[in-house]
Amino acid sequence: MAGSKTPDTPLEAQTEHARLVEQIRAHDERYYQEDAPVVSDAEYDALRKRLVEIEAKFPELVTAESPTQKVSGGVSEKFAKARHGVPMLSLDNAFDREDVSDFVGRVRRFLNLKDEEIAFTAEPKIDGLSCNLRYEKGKLVLGATRGDGEVGENVTANVTTISEIPHTLKGRNIPDLIEIRGEIYMSHADFRALNERQEKEGKPVYANPRNSAGGSLRQLDPKITAARNLHFFAYAWGEASSEPSDTQFGFVELLASWGFATNPLMKRVTSMDEMLAYHREIGEVRATLGYDIDGVVYKVDRIDLQRRLGFVSRSPRWAIAHKFAAEQAFTVLNDIDIQVGRTGKLTPVAKLEPVTVGGVVVSNATLHNEDFIHGVDSRGNPVRDGNDIRIGDTVVVQRAGDVIPQIVRVVVEKRPKDAKPYTFPTVCPACGSHAVREEGESDRRCTGGLVCPAQAVERLRHFVSRNAMDIEGLGEKQIQAFYDWGLVREPADIFTMERREEGSLSRLKNREGWGEQSAANLFKAIEEARRRQVHRVVFGLGIRHVGDINAKRLMRHYRTIDALRAAALAACPPEDGNRADKGNDEWQELTSVSGIGDIVAHAVVDFFQEPKNEKALSALLDELTPEPMEEAAQDTAVAGKTVVFTGTLERMTREEAKAQAERLGAKVSGSVSKKTDIVVAGPGAGSKLKQATDLGVTVMTEDDWLSLIGQH
Ligand code: IVH
Repeated sequence: MAGSKTPDTPLEAQTEHARLVEQIRAHDERYYQEDAPVVSDAEYDALRKRLVEIEAKFPELVTAESPTQKVSGGVSEKFAKARHGVPMLSLDNAFDREDVSDFVGRVRRFLNLKDEEIAFTAEPKIDGLSCNLRYEKGKLVLGATRGDGEVGENVTANVTTISEIPHTLKGRNIPDLIEIRGEIYMSHADFRALNERQEKEGKPVYANPRNSAGGSLRQLDPKITAARNLHFFAYAWGEASSEPSDTQFGFVELLASWGFATNPLMKRVTSMDEMLAYHREIGEVRATLGYDIDGVVYKVDRIDLQRRLGFVSRSPRWAIAHKFAAEQAFTVLNDIDIQVGRTGKLTPVAKLEPVTVGGVVVSNATLHNEDFIHGVDSRGNPVRDGNDIRIGDTVVVQRAGDVIPQIVRVVVEKRPKDAKPYTFPTVCPACGSHAVREEGESDRRCTGGLVCPAQAVERLRHFVSRNAMDIEGLGEKQIQAFYDWGLVREPADIFTMERREEGSLSRLKNREGWGEQSAANLFKAIEEARRRQVHRVVFGLGIRHVGDINAKRLMRHYRTIDALRAAALAACPPEDGNRADKGNDEWQELTSVSGIGDIVAHAVVDFFQEPKNEKALSALLDELTPEPMEEAAQDTAVAGKTVVFTGTLERMTREEAKAQAERLGAKVSGSVSKKTDIVVAGPGAGSKLKQATDLGVTVMTEDDWLSLIGQH
């Protein structure tokens, strides 16, 4: 293939030549007739380049049928054929500075220029489909696709629906007969909207704006074309009864004056440096244009020089396309790797057969999450085109700017027969703990917070932070260093560090940044931390959704970590989706703690039920003698009373009222029963108020309540 040695023997050459011709023919058909390519432009270009190399070495293989001698395209039987007045040709490609320099050198040599300056136009190369528009006496009489370059498809009815194609030309210097050429394209915004509509209607989505422009133009019903909002940039002429202009630049200005849309980025340049600078500048604004371009085109500006330069086989000598490094490429997905982030999130990464994309070799791409691989999100909506991604699949990778490479499409046609749907792991690949996915979330997370090496540094940093264990002298930097030195791997290690190895203190103090005094201060701070309040320890465990407030709520209720752990181990959440199931008593109790809902309760249960956390937690608790939380007040008017809030509270939020009541020793409940002591009813109170009156429970207003607790 491209890049490898050209064949030595005529037989080898003939075999490879025949294979390339067939491949190119098949790709042309998919591209031009079906608007559904299966290889990238770069891969296609490589096949053609290889063919040119072989034909250069074995000229006897060049026949009139060779793709090097013909313009690709071809016409569909759907449309009447239309012969172009003058053939529509193709452009040679340049990929780097050297190719551009060769082009300029060829032009100068051919024209025998000495030191004279030569001007070129430079303009974006629109990634659409070229079109030939025939005007007679200023009236549009024929619109045709490029086809094979000689004969295209008659799509007059379709092109007349494009607002940027005038039906009548106005202005000066309009030849009696002129063929106007340009590019029909679709904007990114219209492309996205079209694909969304197609998807909703269960129709196939288009791979890219160029294919969708092709598909939209080549419709038997022009009303469909009309609804697709296609655009057109005019840039050249074909047959003409008189020469409209003597420069390329002047001609494009004329086109604009006749009523065509022309590309505002066209420029006149007179040196290699200017050409390359233009290529760079357009590359930089490429992503902001709102339509696809795949390079820039340089054209000799003077028409008389263009005429002298003429053509070689399928392309003019006076123009060249300077392509951008392809931003998309086809490659094979060899494997899927699961990476665990610092917070326990499992991210799938595509291991790709290395491929050059946008000038960089790409071998990894993000796969985002489980749903992205499955092609369906948790609500059942399709992701991408709804196809799942399997190991062995051929995929399209995209790399735009500095963005992490993405997989934009799966080529399902190329899927190996034995490819199996990917099963996302439910255990963490870094530590073997369970990895769970919460309802409504797209990420799966490791629950082994205390033991997972991928999360260790982040967890330790959180564990010692201000609102948790608050160990002075042990910040992010020190934790990282201790981890790297192997001194601390999990929370308990912080407390065993000093005694673990004799001389640990001296080991530390000889390390960079540690002196005798700072080491002694650190160990003193660690000693003090053994008696931190219990809710700080719980917060420090880093249980998902258990911030310092929820840690307080839990500990106010359970008092000790052992009690919380026992409850979490015994708790049995209701089975998914089963409304009648309310879980067991421990679950009921856990979710009745004020402020603790199902999501938090699930996270607590997941954490304690993960066996890997058990060992680390026991080791930690062996080292600590946590202070209990301050007792709820005993001597207040509401201590020991069960209170229910109902209706709207006007002076504080329900949450705040609950927390305050609990601080004052009251128990807050969500339902009224015989055990209820007080119901605080605001405006809008309904059934609970009625129940209270029926049961003879004391009912009061928010203001009454506030005076009762001395807040008035
Ligand atoms: S000039 C003699 N200018 O690129 C060739 N072509 O790869 C005249 N294209 O078939 C073509 N933008 O479809 C020209 N600004 C531009 C272009 C452009 C896109 C297309 C056109 C052509 C193909 C060649």
